[in-house]
Amino acid sequence: MSVSRGGFSSRIGFIMAAAGSAVGLGNIWGFPTQTASNGGAAFVLVYLVLAFCLAYPAFMAELLIGRYGQANAVSSLEKMSRSLWQKKFAFFVGFGGIVCAALILSFYGILAGWMMSYAVEPVLTFVGLSDAAQWVISQSLWRNLGFTALFMILTVFIIRHGVENGIEKWSKRLMPMLIGLLILLIIYVVTLDGAAEGLNAYLNPDFSRVFEPDLLISALGQAFFSLSLGTSVMIIYGSYISKKENLITLGAQVTLIDVSIAFLAGLLIIPAMYVAQAQGVAIFAEDGSLINGSSLVFTVLPSLFESMGNIGSFVAFAFFLLMSIAALTSSISMLEGPVSYVVERHDIPREKATTLIGIGIFLLSMVIVLNIETMLDFVAIAATQYGQPIIAMLCCVFVGWIWHRNDVLMELKQGNDSAEHSIFWKIWPWYTKFVCPTAIGVVFIHSLNLF
Ligand code: PFF
Repeated sequence: MSVSRGGFSSRIGFIMAAAGSAVGLGNIWGFPTQTASNGGAAFVLVYLVLAFCLAYPAFMAELLIGRYGQANAVSSLEKMSRSLWQKKFAFFVGFGGIVCAALILSFYGILAGWMMSYAVEPVLTFVGLSDAAQWVISQSLWRNLGFTALFMILTVFIIRHGVENGIEKWSKRLMPMLIGLLILLIIYVVTLDGAAEGLNAYLNPDFSRVFEPDLLISALGQAFFSLSLGTSVMIIYGSYISKKENLITLGAQVTLIDVSIAFLAGLLIIPAMYVAQAQGVAIFAEDGSLINGSSLVFTVLPSLFESMGNIGSFVAFAFFLLMSIAALTSSISMLEGPVSYVVERHDIPREKATTLIGIGIFLLSMVIVLNIETMLDFVAIAATQYGQPIIAMLCCVFVGWIWHRNDVLMELKQGNDSAEHSIFWKIWPWYTKFVCPTAIGVVFIHSLNLF
């Protein structure tokens, strides 16, 4: 770990930060809604297989690139390139990931702002400021801009403090809060009328759907989004890990936490949907499909909380606070990608770089807010359905085809003397070379619906 660029001070610091990046709106909002609209447990099963068989190996590739390079995404990839064209390719992949992270943050910040505004609403109602409470959950332009700005300010505040005093310190505070809140909410919701039906829908697989191409594509996209792949984030977090740590185990632990929290979020959201249904709220459209994810979070759940009387305001606050925390530990990782690049390549002080990039990304969010109907989906699809899989696939190509196999193995061995005896050692290099790029490529091409 180089002194000047900083790094995680402890193993748990890295695990909390990387799990913080991974666990976000994708887990608590995306995963349960995708599961509910794709046959319940069938989707969960496919998701688990893809998360461990494709996303985890690709995640390891990114961590390893960063730990070897000990630098931002572009410099780390350049370090393993030998010829001029390889260096150009390194720039394309590294910079592409950084752009992807910035694009994701530009729309993610808007969604996170909505979550924060819904957390503030019950507090304002409680203290009797009902006009202000109405305003914070209105779709007005100023409310959208105001809360997006507030969320960006929090993100910038943490990243300005650097790796150990910013990312690590805040992830270690926020992640336990998130897990505690999630468990409390699950315990409460599963005791309500209608929850049992939700659990049944969640945990009983409809196996006939397991091989549906759309289900496979949604599950893969979800797994990649969830592990923050293809965005330079895991390369930079990898670069802050000490050479003494065993990366294979660390990567597996983060994947396990990410998948477990998504699973737990399903235990909260899907029963809550059925509780709302038991109270007469429509959660399925006439053709049997689920209402869209944002109606679910911003209409169905708030009306469910309202029907709970006094405790409902408290539950609403806890739920949207949970969402906001999950979003914040992810957004800081997205900002760290571009910031580390500018700090290290252009020698700009961290505070200044963070503020300038934060403002730049906020301006992009403003453009999206002003054209919300068209641009929100456009940017989200461009970054997550195209950008992330392409960059993640190219990272695997880098590790498999450009980086010297001996160097790959040497890096894997750092902090893990018995690495040579593990199955990971025997399978993973070959797997990353052939299976990962092919599988990601096939699913990606399929998702373009060309054939
Ligand atoms: N993994 C985050 C989630 O599941 O919400 C989203 C995310 C974080 C995507 C960081 C990309 C990224 F670079």
